[in-house]
Amino acid sequence: MIERIATPRLVLRPVAAGDLPDLLEVNGDPEVTRFLPYATWRSPDDAAAWLERMDTLAAAGDARQLVLVRAADARVVGTLLLFRHDAGSARAEVGYVLGRRHWGQGLMREALQAACLHAFGALGLRRLEAEVHPGNAASWRLLERLGFVHEGTLRQRWVAQGAPYDTRLYGRLAGDRGGPADGHEDARCR
Ligand SMILES: CC(C)(COP(=O)(O)OP(=O)(O)OC[C@H]1O[C@@H](n2cnc3c(N)ncnc32)[C@H](O)[C@@H]1OP(=O)(O)O)[C@@H](O)C(=O)NCCC(=O)NCCS
Repeated sequence: MIERIATPRLVLRPVAAGDLPDLLEVNGDPEVTRFLPYATWRSPDDAAAWLERMDTLAAAGDARQLVLVRAADARVVGTLLLFRHDAGSARAEVGYVLGRRHWGQGLMREALQAACLHAFGALGLRRLEAEVHPGNAASWRLLERLGFVHEGTLRQRWVAQGAPYDTRLYGRLAGDRGGPADGHEDARCR
């Protein structure tokens, strides 16, 4: 269970219904949802349907949807999902989304690093993984900066709008040298 993680510029906490107006701005942008497995939100109904899906995942006990709240003004600027939690293997997957106006400031790196530390520390996980569209360079560069390893490419794993596409599989072990699990933070976080 994650209740609150603070970073220098953000607070990560579980999503709540009051976050949906800010999240509609984030996910209502086709540039943001370009590589995501859901359609661009068009209305508050899309936002409510998404929250219902997240609540269902959380109730099943294998996912936790967090939001990124900017410490300076309490605006919700993004999301970070820990999901497909396999307790037996102490493993989970991460997914993350940031509003376009906040890209390029290292904010998701700050959030993901804190989430990794929490996952490998308090949650006792031993492996985190992420699947990334090969065209989503901002995402896979972010993972590589945090010590995730490109373990292979899964061929035609997904179909979106009728077209199959590959994904790059990234993994990071709690015991990997460098990166957030060591609490070692040089400029490259490795
Ligand atoms: C992926 C995402 C979360 C990155 O967040 P961010 O806070 O902007 O990330 P950072 O500022 O830490 O930048 C990450 C790295 O990607 C690089 N980068 C950013 N945009 C890029 C682009 N369009 N092409 C190539 N590299 C890019 C940055 O320079 C940085 O690399 P560096 O550390 O080597 O300089 C953000 O772009 C996003 O929300 N995208 C839409 C949702 C999404 O695709 N989520 C991931 C699904 S797998």
